[in-house]
Amino acid sequence: MKYNIKNICCIGAGYVGGPTMSVFAKHCPDIQFNVVDINTERINKWNSQNLKELPIYEPGLDTLIKKCRGKNLHFSTQVEAKIADADMIFISVNTPTKVSGFGAGKASDLKWIDKSSRQISKYGKSGAIVVEKSTLPVKTAQTIEEILNSNNNNKVFKILSNPEFLAEGSAINNLEFPDRVLIGGDDNEAINALIEIYSNWIEIDKILTTDLWSSELSKLISNAFLAQRISSINSISALCEKTGANIKEVSLAVGSDKRIGEYFLEAGPGFGGSCFKKDISNLVYISNYYGLKETASYWQKVIDINNWQSNRISQIIVNTLFGTVSGKRICILGFAFKSNTNDIRESPAISICRDLLEEGALLQIYDPRVEKQKINQELSKFKNHKDKSNGDKYWIILNSIKEATQNCDAIIVITEWNEFKDIVWSEIAPSMRHPSWVFDTRSIIDVKKAKKHGVNVWSVGNGSTNNK
Ligand code: NAD
Ligand code: UGA
Repeated sequence: MKYNIKNICCIGAGYVGGPTMSVFAKHCPDIQFNVVDINTERINKWNSQNLKELPIYEPGLDTLIKKCRGKNLHFSTQVEAKIADADMIFISVNTPTKVSGFGAGKASDLKWIDKSSRQISKYGKSGAIVVEKSTLPVKTAQTIEEILNSNNNNKVFKILSNPEFLAEGSAINNLEFPDRVLIGGDDNEAINALIEIYSNWIEIDKILTTDLWSSELSKLISNAFLAQRISSINSISALCEKTGANIKEVSLAVGSDKRIGEYFLEAGPGFGGSCFKKDISNLVYISNYYGLKETASYWQKVIDINNWQSNRISQIIVNTLFGTVSGKRICILGFAFKSNTNDIRESPAISICRDLLEEGALLQIYDPRVEKQKINQELSKFKNHKDKSNGDKYWIILNSIKEATQNCDAIIVITEWNEFKDIVWSEIAPSMRHPSWVFDTRSIIDVKKAKKHGVNVWSVGNGSTNNK
């Protein structure tokens, strides 16, 4: 059967579904793309005339939406109808870590995958190609296939695995110029149909094809290897602080060896984001399931080091501020898990803010892109710290660096937003309380300039700054 793909449905209008289908739509003007979601609020934001209200902040995304939306790119909540029309269906739903039941805290929760598969089985056209875009444990395609083909309705679906490798903040660039596209499957015609779509803008030698299981596993392992580099460099950042070495120089020297490579060697407050921790936890779970204890404990250490890194930074802050932050105003610069995104999932800001609230600090928070309501929602989970008895807040969210640094004892730089690199210390330092401190968890502050204006500096992995 030769496929003629004219209509594509993507289930899940999130950080992957939205940007991915926007780039597809740009390069495939003859195909109609329907991105569907059960979350009405999210879909309304995707359809907003004000492009500043898109649910996701991603550089370059607004331009694509402007170009394609309403032409060959549509966002809606009509999940069943759009599945029914589609020749190819991408599953791009969330797959977070299970919070209860068997495998809680480790295994992926596949209930959204299960539900989408049942919807496809019921409403999809026989012969449609179903593409796993979500990151899934190895062998999930088998589960999806069983659900799809067990409906007694004689429908047949072909399944492909096509994991996504985009990173938030650079998603459009990653989708336009990927290092590789991976397609796993066992049906050559279905594989060729997907290759044909990608080859509208990607060179054929960048498109790798494998069996289903290798494709699923490669995605988990890619994330595990990336996260491992961060834990490696973070573990060494602590050693630099003790020995007087500088992690930036060590990263440069080490990464200059082509066998190691220069990327992903930046020390920080620990990796955040919705995927690294979830995917490594899943890898640990699968390894244990297959009785591979050593493999499991090896990868578990990557997560352990990550937790240790943010925790030790919280401790350094409290110790440096004379052992107590109780009643002190602490400015938090950045709440997103990295720059150029409004995503706060698993952001190190969350655990650092929690630790400081536990110690009685008053937080003044500023992030250029994260919605205030998201930060409030996250910090409200720490119930004891919602409001003081006199009605004052334990944290406030402000609109600029200047407002957030007013009267504070210390600034904690958590996200590497460009505007934090260029803080004008002559303006900020005089409005801080003395002795004033900046704790730079990303090593982006100009240490000399801050010190010149009387601000003490602690910078991650920098043994020459004033740390204990
Ligand atoms: P997300 O939470 O932003 O989006 C998922 C969307 O799916 C949500 O809006 C949810 O409402 C919707 N959904 C769930 N069940 C549905 C159903 N039955 N019908 C319609 N809509 C439904 O998640 P995300 O960040 O886009 O990640 C999606 C998947 O892609 C995950 O498996 C993730 O691991 C993987 N991934 C994410 C990234 C990333 O950078 N965020 C990168 C690569 C891969
Ligand atoms: C990551 C991967 O980079 C993507 O390839 C993958 O598709 C995606 O996960 C996924 O599966 O979800 P993402 O989490 O969006 O992308 O962002 P990264 O750039 O990988 O950053 C993750 C975290 O690591 C951030 O908190 C970032 O600040 C931190 N990081 C990154 C460092 O601390 N140091 C570095 O050198 C690089």
